[in-house]
Amino acid sequence: MTVKPVFNAATPVTQAPAPDAFLDDVVQGFSRAQKTLPAKYFYDAAGSDLFEAITRLPEYYPTRTEMRILDARGAEIAAALPRGGALVEFGSGSTAKVRRLLPHLPDLAAYVPVDVSGEFLQAQAAGLRRDFPALRVEPVAADFTQPFSLPAGLGDAPRAGFFPGSTIGNFEPEEASRLLRQFGAILGEDAVLVVGVDLVKAHAVLEAAYDDAAGVTGAFNRNVLTRINRELAGGFDPDAFAHRAVFNSQASRIEMHLVSRVAQTVPVAGRRFDFAAGESIHTENSYKYTVEGFRALAAEAGWTGTAVWTDPEALFSVHALKRVG
Ligand code: SAH
Ligand code: AVI
Repeated sequence: MTVKPVFNAATPVTQAPAPDAFLDDVVQGFSRAQKTLPAKYFYDAAGSDLFEAITRLPEYYPTRTEMRILDARGAEIAAALPRGGALVEFGSGSTAKVRRLLPHLPDLAAYVPVDVSGEFLQAQAAGLRRDFPALRVEPVAADFTQPFSLPAGLGDAPRAGFFPGSTIGNFEPEEASRLLRQFGAILGEDAVLVVGVDLVKAHAVLEAAYDDAAGVTGAFNRNVLTRINRELAGGFDPDAFAHRAVFNSQASRIEMHLVSRVAQTVPVAGRRFDFAAGESIHTENSYKYTVEGFRALAAEAGWTGTAVWTDPEALFSVHALKRVG
């Protein structure tokens, strides 16, 4: 007799990273002439809370602007998605955005939030189940830049993707293109993907959004050092690093750095890393696109733009893409 595996909705799916992935990335990043860290390491439970605090800052326009677009155009955006489908959200965070689409998606077969911040993901999934008791919620704790599988129990429901927040902007254009292609492979033929993309605008507006007066973005940036201390036996004094956010207009991206205030040597997992006074760790890029520029990137990755929605000030854009091959 063959026993069919039954997917238990109460069992969260976790696709753990390779055991030394964080250490390997830190050692590799700190061994470069320009020290770097992948931005995904911001997001432990404390980092996710700090990101949520950023979304409420007066200077940080992207979240509230995208929410306004979703509120105003939710019915049209939902109409771009297949009926009775499974909606996979990449980097779901607080799930505040999908909550705005759900009322327009009454026959959704399942909602699959995917996030690397596992603890935060499970708490958000529990909240969503409470607020939408008829909705099947199947969280997947995984790094979406690595191969991962969707819950086995989704069956034949057509799959659609949701990737809000301009998280796509945190990847170099080549990586972003690879990621969109990978999402296409995960979602399958004829898939639709709705992506939130921040737009190019006045530099002062951009730089204020990433260097707020209350210092919340600085705390978010330094949190990666606290995380290295805790998880990799690091010896960072986070206050010995200044937060810097600058718009690199040639590359069309905000760059975040942590700048060493003094010359110092810091232990991490038994190794020692030197930082000159004024030397920086490049911790994040946040690329800003034009509508046409993002559509061209998506086209390279096998997606055709079928619709785009923006706010009246053209601060932010939400794209509907259809997979073409
Ligand atoms: N979508 C939400 C959150 C954006 S913040 C919004 O629009 O407000 C970026 C989210 O992506 C965080 O929740 C973070 O944990 C997640 N994330 C970042 N890199 C990731 C990766 N490589 N794999 C999976 N999740 C990732
Ligand atoms: C998640 N991501 C799109 C945010 C951004 O705007 O690039 C992360 C962030 N970094 C600093 N502030 C917000």
